[in-house]
Amino acid sequence: MEQGVGANLLLLWAMCLGHAQADGSSGYASVIEVTNGGPWGGWARPEMCPDGFFASGFSLKVEPPQGIPGDDTAMNGVRLHCTRGNAEHVVESQSGRWGAWSEPLWCPFGSFLVAFSLRVEAPVIPGDNTAANNVRFRCSDSTELEGPGLAWGDFGNWSEPCPKGICGLQIKIEQPRGLRDDTAVNDLRFFCCRS
Ligand SMILES: *[C@@H]1O[C@H](CO)[C@@H](O)[C@H](O)[C@H]1NC(C)=O
Repeated sequence: MEQGVGANLLLLWAMCLGHAQADGSSGYASVIEVTNGGPWGGWARPEMCPDGFFASGFSLKVEPPQGIPGDDTAMNGVRLHCTRGNAEHVVESQSGRWGAWSEPLWCPFGSFLVAFSLRVEAPVIPGDNTAANNVRFRCSDSTELEGPGLAWGDFGNWSEPCPKGICGLQIKIEQPRGLRDDTAVNDLRFFCCRS
């Protein structure tokens, strides 16, 4: 049900962007996803690179292991580092409150991010869940970059590639739950560049 409403809103948003495209402003060609995302939280607002910028690097916000008794959340955010020439612009959709940002990892010069795979811990009930723990990206020159996330769970299948690179992201994040178990980032989607 919630998923359906989210999909419809996304479609509506896509149609608006499609309309804007007719006026020459930015848009996206398609969305890439994976099938192993975590079950908690909701999709935050999407955020796109500016016109003419391509994501060529990324950084992660990661909370280190909290020990016992602690409430681990692992991955709390993902930033795309969009570049055009020497100009850089960073986008992050929405991020959680825990952890610290890593230094960016970059595709080799002249290549850009095209696909991703998500490391997710399967739900443990009852338990201290973390959901998404890490991300790998593939660059247009086939280089693979693995984020400095945590090691719980497994990497799932790769997404489809974006033919012309990644130009935006949307994060599925669980809001803080007070004394109850927190997971922060659960799933990711990326938007493919038009040109
Ligand atoms: C992952 O990919 C393999 C090979 O294409 C496929 O058999 C499998 O069903 C996929 N797994 C998921 C969870 O989609």
